[in-house]
Amino acid sequence: MPIFDALKLLGRVNHVSCCVVCALAISTLAAHAAADAPVTTIAIDLDQPGKPISPDLFGLFFEDINYAADGGLYAELVQNRSFEYQATEQLSWNPLTCWEVVARGGGQGSLDVAASRPLNSNNPHYAVLDVARVGDEVGIRNAGFDGIVVRAGETYDLSLFVRQLYVERRWGGKPFGPEDQFDLVVRLEDPAGKSLGEAKLTYRGRDWQRVEGEITATRSEDDARLVLLPQTQGGVALDVISLFPRDTFRGRKNGLRRDLAETLAALHPRFIRFPGGCLVHGDGLPNMYRWKDTIGPVHERREQSNIWGYHQTAGLGYFEYFQFCEDIGAKPLPVVPAGVCCQNSGDTAGTGQDGLPLAEMPAYVQEVLDLVEWANGPADSPWGAKRAAAGHPQPFGLEYLAVGNEEHITPAFEERFRMICAALAEKHPEISIIGTAGPSPDGSDFEQGWRIANDLQLALVDEHYYRSPEWFLENLHRYDDYDRARPHVYLGEYAAHERDRRTTLRSALAEAAYMTQLERNGDVVQFASYAPLLAKRGHTQWNPDLVYFTNTRVAPTINYYVQQLFGANCGDEYLASHTSPADDAALTVSAVRDSASGDVILKIVNNGAEPRPVQIELTGASALADEAVCMTLSGDPQAVNDFNTRKPLTPVESTFAVGEKFDYEAAAHSLNVIRIPAK
Ligand code: AHR
Repeated sequence: MPIFDALKLLGRVNHVSCCVVCALAISTLAAHAAADAPVTTIAIDLDQPGKPISPDLFGLFFEDINYAADGGLYAELVQNRSFEYQATEQLSWNPLTCWEVVARGGGQGSLDVAASRPLNSNNPHYAVLDVARVGDEVGIRNAGFDGIVVRAGETYDLSLFVRQLYVERRWGGKPFGPEDQFDLVVRLEDPAGKSLGEAKLTYRGRDWQRVEGEITATRSEDDARLVLLPQTQGGVALDVISLFPRDTFRGRKNGLRRDLAETLAALHPRFIRFPGGCLVHGDGLPNMYRWKDTIGPVHERREQSNIWGYHQTAGLGYFEYFQFCEDIGAKPLPVVPAGVCCQNSGDTAGTGQDGLPLAEMPAYVQEVLDLVEWANGPADSPWGAKRAAAGHPQPFGLEYLAVGNEEHITPAFEERFRMICAALAEKHPEISIIGTAGPSPDGSDFEQGWRIANDLQLALVDEHYYRSPEWFLENLHRYDDYDRARPHVYLGEYAAHERDRRTTLRSALAEAAYMTQLERNGDVVQFASYAPLLAKRGHTQWNPDLVYFTNTRVAPTINYYVQQLFGANCGDEYLASHTSPADDAALTVSAVRDSASGDVILKIVNNGAEPRPVQIELTGASALADEAVCMTLSGDPQAVNDFNTRKPLTPVESTFAVGEKFDYEAAAHSLNVIRIPAK
C-alpha cells in the first residue's frame, strides 16, 4: 500500500487530525475492516475543463415561523411591546397580554388599554396605567418571551414612548404644564422581585415622547422581568416598551440575537430568501406581507398577525433583512406576494385564495417596483432616500426578486402574477424574476407554474418539496434532464421528512446525497435552501426544522451540519468524475473546484450500512497539495441532535496525505467532504 494510501485511512479511524508518523499503524486496522468490500474507483480528470456551476448554490430560507423572528432571531426582549396583541391571533390574547400590574408596600394601580390618541395609525393601542397610590412601588411588568435573559455586566438598551395623562385625578387632578417633569424607574428583576439593575428616566408634559436609557445587569438571570414604576400619582400612557441587549450581532441597533445570527452565518450562505413562505402571501388579503409596512422607525411599522398563529412586530423588517444579508456576505432574495393571499387562508372559515381587486393592482405593482428603487436606487431617489435615512446610502445591490410563494395556480393568480412580472421586466430588466411552481415536486400547480415561467421566460422557478428520505434517494437524477435553455431552478424549500418528523442522521444523509445532485446540476439549479430554518422550543408549528433554540441554547440538527459542510465547501466548477461501478443511491459522489482558491473538493455520501472503500484517481493533480482536510459526519442513522442529546453528532476533522491515487474508506452512514488545497 503506498504511504499516502495508508495515511489517509487514519482520519476516519480515530477521527482526529493526524500526522504522517502515527497514521500508519491505525490505517492498517482500517484497511482490514474494509478489506472484503469491493472497491469503488472515483476517477477525476483535473486537466479537463469542468462545468461552470452556480457559485451561489446553497443559502438560507428565513421565515418567521416557530417564533423564528419575534422571540427568536430578532433580539427584542419585551413581548407585546406595542400592546397590539389581539384575540384574532390567539383566543386568549388581548392588547395587555404579557403585561401585569405590580404593586408593593401599599401601592395601588390599574392597567387598561386605550386607543384614543395613539402614536400613529399603524400603532393604535397603548397602555394606560392609573397610579392610585404610589406606596412603595406600583407599575407594570413584562416577562418577555418565556423570561428575559440577562447576563451580569452586560448592558441593555431601553426605550419607550410615554406621556403623562393626569396628576392626582382623584382630587380633580392637579394642573401641569409642558415643562413639568416626571420620573419613571425601569428595573430588571428576578422572579422573586429582586433587582438586577435599574435606570431612572424622566419625561415632561402630556405629549408622546420617546425616552431611552440603559441598564447594566448586576447578576445573570434566565427568567428576568422588566418592571416600569412611575413615581407620580396619576395616569401615564406607555407604548413601544423595548429592551435590547447591546451585544447584538455586529452590534446593530434594533439588531439580531448574536448566538442565533452567528449560527446562521456559520452556514456560509450565499443568499437569504425572506420573509417567507406562507407568511408572505398571508392569511387573507389584509394579512399580506407588505414590505413598506416594515421599514422606517419601528414604532411606525404596521404590526399584524402571523399566519402561523402568533404576532409579527415587523421589527425585523426589510432593512434588517437586507442588512443581515450584507453583514454575512449573502445575496438578498426577497419574496413579494403575487397579489393573491394564501390558498389555505381562513382555515376554519375556508376563505381560501383571494386576489387583490384589479383596481388596486396598479398601486400594488408600483409597490413592487418601489422595492427595487428602495434597494438599489440612488440615495436621492424617493425610495432610495428612505434607505439612506435608515443608515444605508449605498445601494444594497438587489439582483433577484421572487414573486409569489407556491400558490395554487388559478386564473386570478396568473392574471396578477403576469401584471407584476410585465412591469418588472419593463422597468427593471436588470432584476431576475423568480416564479413559483406550487408546493409539490409535480402535479397541476407545478406544471402550471412552469408553463407560465416558460412563457414569460423568467430567470428562475421556485420549487418546493418535503418528502421522505427514500424519495430523495429515488430522485437523485431529477435535474439531469432539465432543459438548460429554460428558466433555472431555485429549490426554495426542501427537507427529507421522517414519518415521525425527527431530524435523524438518515434524513440528513438523504439530503446530502441529494445535494450532490444539486451540485452536479448546478448549471441549472442556481439556488437551494432547506426549510424551515429556525424553531423555538415550545413554540413550534412545523417539524422538522434546521436549528432548534431556546432563550439560552441553540441546538443545530445533524441536517444543519450537512448544510454547513456543503455551504463551506461549494465550488463554482463541477468536475466530471467517473465512478466505477456506477453511482448508486448508497454511494453518491460529487467533485467541484473552487476557482478562487484552486482547491478541489470531493464529497462522498455513503448511505449504506457498510463501510465503502474507494480509490480516488486524480489526473493532473500537480497543482494540488499533498495533504487533504476531511470533514466526516457519521454515526447511527437514527441519531438525533436535540436538547437532550448528551453528545451531539458533529463533523469530525481529519487530515491525511493524498496524491494522484489514494484510497479512502467512507464509513457506513457517512458524509465525507475531502478538501485538497491548491499548492
Ligand atoms: O416552510 C414552511 C412552509 O412550507 C412555508 O411557509 C410554505 O411555503 C411551505 O408550505
